[in-house]
Amino acid sequence: MADGSNSASSVKANAPPQARSQFKLLGIGVGCLLVVVPLSMVVKSEVFFLMLLCAAAAIFIFTTFRTLWLLMQSSMFHGNVPALTWAGIVVSGFIGALLSLITFSELVRGRQLRRFGKVLLPRVGDDEAWSTIDLSPSVDANLRTQLAAQWRENGRSEHASVAAFARLQLDLMALGAPPELLRSASQDALDEIRHAELCFSLARALDGQDLGPQAFPEASNARGKSGPRKLALVQLAVDSLVEGALLEGFSARLIAQLVPVCLDEATRALLRELAADEGRHSKHGWDVVEWCLEQGGESVASALRGALEGLPKSVTTTLPLAARGGSWEQFGIGGQAREDEAYAETRAHVVSRLEALLGASRRAA
Ligand SMILES: [Fe+2]
Ligand SMILES: [Fe+2]
Repeated sequence: MADGSNSASSVKANAPPQARSQFKLLGIGVGCLLVVVPLSMVVKSEVFFLMLLCAAAAIFIFTTFRTLWLLMQSSMFHGNVPALTWAGIVVSGFIGALLSLITFSELVRGRQLRRFGKVLLPRVGDDEAWSTIDLSPSVDANLRTQLAAQWRENGRSEHASVAAFARLQLDLMALGAPPELLRSASQDALDEIRHAELCFSLARALDGQDLGPQAFPEASNARGKSGPRKLALVQLAVDSLVEGALLEGFSARLIAQLVPVCLDEATRALLRELAADEGRHSKHGWDVVEWCLEQGGESVASALRGALEGLPKSVTTTLPLAARGGSWEQFGIGGQAREDEAYAETRAHVVSRLEALLGASRRAA
């Protein structure tokens, strides 16, 4: 990140006065996006979100391309910077920041399918097929219904993660990824099927209801990484950094912290399994990031630096009110303070590891 800010300030210093004024306009465009995304989290309306996003994107695109045009003219005039290369790197940085911001319009543990940043989850209905694992949790009768609802909510995101890894598999194939990355994506999808079964089975053991995820047509509409190969690599790298390295890592850390405080043996065994798997999924996310960096060079590096800038310092919880104080941790559901701490630790780890990776990549180039 230090390299990115140094190069940004040197670009600013070398820019002509007209271009420097464009940086201010560019700041307005970025500022609009920074306002729109948090607003969309407060106002839970997809139409409102789309309207604001379109308005902000229009300002953003106009100011970005006007800035780039002036700076490219300047670079070509002075003859000291390959203008198109430079422009591609700058655009990649913005794409990275934008993708990172959009991902965080809604936070859910682990890799997810999203549309305009909104996480897509299956509906839940009558279905015995997803709750066949025999579990016997020891939980107070008055909490069983609420806990079962939360485990089903977790089960929905685990189920949707299966589709997210299938999407990743297709993106990797389209970009010519090596067999170990394809194998990891397949294995991770199998893990998520098991996680969904565990969550729905635990919920059934708590309240006796045979419920499971219903048909999920959104899975077949999930868009792949589009555009030229370099642009697809940029998108995949940022996606794997945020959804894989960060959110799977956050999930693994949070769940691992719950193991020693969970009092129920059946739930504790489930948590151990989930934590180990999510930790591996996070590692696979890093593997994809490194491969994209190797393939895409400075454009991918710039996008990853941009993505780091877009990562929020804290996250908004989606926990039910009753769980936020931490009283459900003895039953395997983390409280808000633990979520905040796990997120902050994971984010710090991601930032330092990525900075080291980008530094090594720059030295090797
Ligand atoms: Fe999972
Ligand atoms: Fe996962």
